[in-house]
Amino acid sequence: MIIAQLSDFHVRPHGQPAYGVVDTNAATRQAIDAVLALDPRPDCVIVTGDLCDCGLPGEYEIVQRELARLPMPTYVVPGNHDRRETFAAALAPAHGYLPQSGFLHYVVEDFPVRLIGLDTVMAGEDGGEICAAREAWLAERLTEGQGHPTVIFMHHPPFAVGVDGMDVMPARVSPGFAALIARHPEIERVLCGHYHRPIQLRFAGTIGYVAPGTAHQVALDLRPGTENRFIMEPPAIALHVWKPRTGLVSHLQPIGDYGPRRPFILDPAYPGRQ
Ligand SMILES: [Fe+2]
Ligand SMILES: [Fe+2]
Repeated sequence: MIIAQLSDFHVRPHGQPAYGVVDTNAATRQAIDAVLALDPRPDCVIVTGDLCDCGLPGEYEIVQRELARLPMPTYVVPGNHDRRETFAAALAPAHGYLPQSGFLHYVVEDFPVRLIGLDTVMAGEDGGEICAAREAWLAERLTEGQGHPTVIFMHHPPFAVGVDGMDVMPARVSPGFAALIARHPEIERVLCGHYHRPIQLRFAGTIGYVAPGTAHQVALDLRPGTENRFIMEPPAIALHVWKPRTGLVSHLQPIGDYGPRRPFILDPAYPGRQ
């Protein structure tokens, strides 16, 4: 099973670049093209939030048009740049797994790995939250899974990453959340977005994973006290490959043209080779 993870499209209305300079719509189109070019194709695609930049209906029309180009099932969760009601109204017709009201949580049982989408949005705020009610919902779903391999995906990372600019806004988590995750070793990953760059760490006995964005990235800055800046480093698709023998292995596939695939040189006349 191959899960492709895309994150943080930040789609804008036609002709309006994000932050005045980033053509996020073109980047989204390239990301979808890159998924379509994968061989083998992923079994499903998850999109970990910030599908659009300002939560506008016109932005979601573009998002939905791009997602509709994917032939495989696609599962979306909202981020802080999304607006839950607009998100649900625009995407629910083509995404029948989305709940009709309340938090946009759901479970997908159609694959060898269970997928649990969690809604971390706090309306009107940049930060996210896993409150007691969301933790209780997740606890019930994990119990129902009876130890089946599981991936949880959400927008806001529920862990600090040691980068000051990012750690001002991790998800506020309920006191029991980490312990709940730790009680379920079948959780292969907690997949997130929001930070617009690849990050991995140990979290509550599993692996916390942050995917890069499909457009702009957040520049890496490990100096204390600095603020986030964005940078046009290469976007990427995260590919999480499940095989019974190896479990879940995460790869990063940059989006863009990096030239042809070439064989390693086997010529005995290669200078220096004896
Ligand atoms: Fe974002
Ligand atoms: Fe975000």
